[in-house]
Amino acid sequence: MVTAIYIAGRGRVGAALVRHFGRQAVPCRVLKRGWEKRPPRRGVLFLAVPDAAVERICREVFPTTPKGLTLVHFAGGLPISRERTHLLHPFASMGPESEFGRLWCLWHGPADGGFERFLNTHHFHVIRRDPIPGPGYHVAAVLAGNFPQYLFLAARDLLRREGFSDDDSKRLLVQLVETSVLGVREGGVGALTGPAARGDRAVMEREIVFLGKTAPRLAVLYRALSELIAQAVGHGKILD
Ligand SMILES: NC(=O)c1ccc[n+]([C@@H]2O[C@H](COP(=O)([O-])OP(=O)(O)OC[C@H]3O[C@@H](n4cnc5c(N)ncnc54)[C@H](OP(=O)(O)O)[C@@H]3O)[C@@H](O)[C@H]2O)c1
Repeated sequence: MVTAIYIAGRGRVGAALVRHFGRQAVPCRVLKRGWEKRPPRRGVLFLAVPDAAVERICREVFPTTPKGLTLVHFAGGLPISRERTHLLHPFASMGPESEFGRLWCLWHGPADGGFERFLNTHHFHVIRRDPIPGPGYHVAAVLAGNFPQYLFLAARDLLRREGFSDDDSKRLLVQLVETSVLGVREGGVGALTGPAARGDRAVMEREIVFLGKTAPRLAVLYRALSELIAQAVGHGKILD
């Protein structure tokens, strides 16, 4: 039987879903705002909407939906665990180039062979977790995915202020991020580099003074992270 596919939200994740089903020539319908008044009767409804809307829909709309409708949301930070509702969390930063077919997603939801076949048939790559992971799961995603994005852009601004072109800044920073991630991926704490890992206090203090004048809140972050790195190198581990 062909499953009807509905998508609410056409932001980063919604657009990636539309591309994903489009590539497979699988029809899907993007719902117009206000769909909640008349939710679909059966099939799979993807909630590619902000987390607050997911919570509201699960609380207010879910009870009015018929049993033939399966809900899928992507909010990895929400501890929702209930019938007919699945979390499909792409452990990735989604953008215009993202392809679900190339990404690993965490899947949490009721053991449902039909839905599992749906995921396989439509080329979603999943790691199933039951029970739902604790808050550390999403914090890990923020630490590894979102904070580096901000720091990358802050570093790019600093390079620009030092007179580097956009192209050169991008080239240098991408190289640095890739070599840094590769280093710790293989070598763990022992592969941490930089002044804090080496114990170069004079360099650190000079850079904190510079940042204190340029971007004082980043200076606070620089000092705090440097202290954590020095401690990690001393103990040979990050978390106790
Ligand atoms: N982006 C990521 O990297 C990423 C990664 C993993 C998980 N997620 C999760 O994926 C979900 C969607 O995130 P996103 O980044 O795609 O958000 P987004 O880019 O901000 O897009 C959200 C979309 O939902 C629409 N929307 C809001 N309420 C709606 C409703 N009631 N019905 C229909 N459409 C509605 C918004 O429309 P308007 O623009 O008109 O408001 C917008 O198009 C979130 O739960 C998020 O936690 C995102």
